[in-house]
Amino acid sequence: MDAPASAVQSRPIPTPTTRRYLMCPPRYFAVEYSINPWMDPSQPVDVERALAQWHELRETYLRLGHTVEVIEPQPGLPDMVFAANSGTVIDGRVLGARFRSTQRAPEAEHFRRWFVEHGYRDLVMPNAINEAEGDFAWTGTVLLAGTGFRTDAAAHAEAQEVLGVPVVSLQLIDPRYYHLDTALLVLDADTIAYYPEAFSPGSRRVLRRLFPDAVLGTDADAACLGLNGVSDGGNVVLPMEATGLAERLAERGYRPVPVDISELRKSGGGPKCCTLELRAAAHGASRAAARGEPRGAATEMSV
Ligand code: ARG
Repeated sequence: MDAPASAVQSRPIPTPTTRRYLMCPPRYFAVEYSINPWMDPSQPVDVERALAQWHELRETYLRLGHTVEVIEPQPGLPDMVFAANSGTVIDGRVLGARFRSTQRAPEAEHFRRWFVEHGYRDLVMPNAINEAEGDFAWTGTVLLAGTGFRTDAAAHAEAQEVLGVPVVSLQLIDPRYYHLDTALLVLDADTIAYYPEAFSPGSRRVLRRLFPDAVLGTDADAACLGLNGVSDGGNVVLPMEATGLAERLAERGYRPVPVDISELRKSGGGPKCCTLELRAAAHGASRAAARGEPRGAATEMSV
């Protein structure tokens, strides 16, 4: 296969791999409290429209060959649609969530139960405030971890210990980009896309050092939550308004897949927020279980 003309010779060709996602339909979606600058409770939301956009997102994943698991939404939890905030799953091992806001706190237990009922035996509920994949992005080598608005810095150390992966802490500085996944997206094992202005000067230097070849997002890309995309290594599902980012991704050989997520954006969410990736262990069971390692942490549960 020929590399795209614009691709640097040494860059691997973007190649999709099939993924497994967990999603939650926005049946009880609403904006009735405000915990980020996008949320304006005086602005009406259209639940039917949110549901239609969510179904289209799910269909998009299915068309791309991915598997989508669905968790039952709960009345009174309007943000439960943002499944990404409910767990970080690497090699079949789950670190659950602990929400900062009282309004979202009960979501964690519904997702914990889903994981248990679906055979996730290595599951730890965090002690520190931890909004899961909202603030954690796994590249395949390192876990990029955001803090500043939601997830506590202490949760980064906890994630490293529980998941057994190296964590790189990044400081978020713009309240509009309150979760890491509103400003950074992992494209594949080697590359990310991010909006530099969302990060502190030191964190920008870290990102430049680790990912000199990253795709950079502009103000316009960020302002439509364009960085809140989902990549399978080749296809990148992203908000349709993010046309500049889509073009830059296409130049690098990725295939942008635009979706309309405007209704959920009223709550500060995009495609990624609605999508939790279930990363399986290499051989079905978790590696730790396969090695017969004890499951030690105090909050760890046995099932
Ligand atoms: N209204 C939700 C909140 O503020 C949106 C969460 C978006 N999720 C995400 N992964 N960025 O908590």
